[in-house]
Amino acid sequence: MKNLFYVFLTVLFFAACQSVNTPPRPPAVPMDLSAQGIIPRPLQVRTDSSSLVIDSLSALFFSAELKKEGEYLLAEIQRVTGLDLTVNPAETDRAYGHIKLQLDANTKSDDEAYTLDITEDTLTVSAAAPAGIFYGIQTLRQMLPHRLSDTLTEKIFRIPTGKIEDAPEYAHRGVMLDVSRHFFTVAEVKQFIDYLAAYKINVFHIHLADDQGWRIEIKAYPELTEQGGRTAVGGGAGGYYTQADYKEIIQYATDRHITVIPEIDMPGHTNAALSSYAFLNCNGKKTKMYTGMRVGFSSLCIYKDTTYAFLDKVIGEIAALTPGEYFHIGGDEAHATKQKDYNYFIEKVQNIVAAHGKKMVGWDEITAVDLLPGSLAQHWQTPENALRAKAQGTKIIMSPAKKAYLDMKYDSSSQFGLRWAGYIPVDTAYLWSPQTYLPGIGKEDIVGVEAPLWSETVSNLAEAEYLLFPRLPGYAEMGWTPDSLRNWEEYEGRLEKNLRKFTNY
Ligand code: ACM
Repeated sequence: MKNLFYVFLTVLFFAACQSVNTPPRPPAVPMDLSAQGIIPRPLQVRTDSSSLVIDSLSALFFSAELKKEGEYLLAEIQRVTGLDLTVNPAETDRAYGHIKLQLDANTKSDDEAYTLDITEDTLTVSAAAPAGIFYGIQTLRQMLPHRLSDTLTEKIFRIPTGKIEDAPEYAHRGVMLDVSRHFFTVAEVKQFIDYLAAYKINVFHIHLADDQGWRIEIKAYPELTEQGGRTAVGGGAGGYYTQADYKEIIQYATDRHITVIPEIDMPGHTNAALSSYAFLNCNGKKTKMYTGMRVGFSSLCIYKDTTYAFLDKVIGEIAALTPGEYFHIGGDEAHATKQKDYNYFIEKVQNIVAAHGKKMVGWDEITAVDLLPGSLAQHWQTPENALRAKAQGTKIIMSPAKKAYLDMKYDSSSQFGLRWAGYIPVDTAYLWSPQTYLPGIGKEDIVGVEAPLWSETVSNLAEAEYLLFPRLPGYAEMGWTPDSLRNWEEYEGRLEKNLRKFTNY
């Protein structure tokens, strides 16, 4: 009898443990995967109209090759929802409510393509390469609840079931930030990079030197930053990145599958250098620092050998710190340089860039000379220059100022921004196609699209955000989603939904 009693107690005990270990499955609710406001719009979405529940008993599974992506997702879920998922448990308390990241060579040949497969049990992100996994994670992040919402006290969230199959239209999806006219701190640049990552942008072009400021430490020429970095448009404090800072920015971008393209603008837009070193000037005298907003008045001295010895060091030091394959030499608005001098200069500089193992990028004026194979021309203003690029087999990055310049005002009431290329309201920013914009230039001639943010009128990240949002998501969609799936009316609704979660990114 007594023994039986103990058997009974033991059974009760295990039953109790069982119910602790496997609480009732939280209910799925009907949800629509196609109504999540995902930007850029994915290629294919199938909705299964139910949901997967993620809560404190959920686990995240990933293999060693996906450690960076897995830890990134873990940290993002923690930051946004407060949930600490268990990582790669040998056994779980239950068979449902999990997230898996997996490399799958059969998924797609494109390294940036991914699939999200979401059932009531498991969300699986699969891709042929870590980049694709990272983009699948971005799609998932856009479905997390709002970070600041009260409902999170429950520490449970639901993701709609179904399947997303996705891949980008263009290989080059970029945004430029001008840190010369105003300086942005490393922390601000990291947050800026996080905005790009959230929208699957994969190129961060950083405009590091112009008339008003030189922002990157060059060990061979310390005055560039000591003198050339000390001010900004309007006469404020300026600033610069040490080489350690620059490496930190590169690492942060690399961890987010973003390639950094550094730009040192030349032979014009060089007053900060000309005011740092007398030998760069034809008259041997340093210029004064400049804190206004004019362009086209400065030039390096074209026929001095010391100019090229200087550029060899500058390009060499930056190239050595930069893992990406490109170095941007600017080349725009060299109005203080005669055309024949300009051509001589660009031909010399492209050899220096090549000698340091990089391919050259320049604004569309550089097509005045025969460019080395693999160079890129960035179209911003002159259609004839784009046609010249095409004629010589140079591929184009599309950044037409009238459509793609993030520093243009939205309208006459905009608090920040310029208007020389016209107002760019949110629909104008979205309603064009990089592959049909220029007569005679088609998809085969371009590598993608880039939206530049010049910083004459914005002096910190909060001000830059005014220009970025809500236009940035539209440029991201233009780079990722084929034109056949882009439609302003449909996009507008998605944008509104998406931006409600802006503070998550
Ligand atoms: C440019 O806007 N000067 C490229």
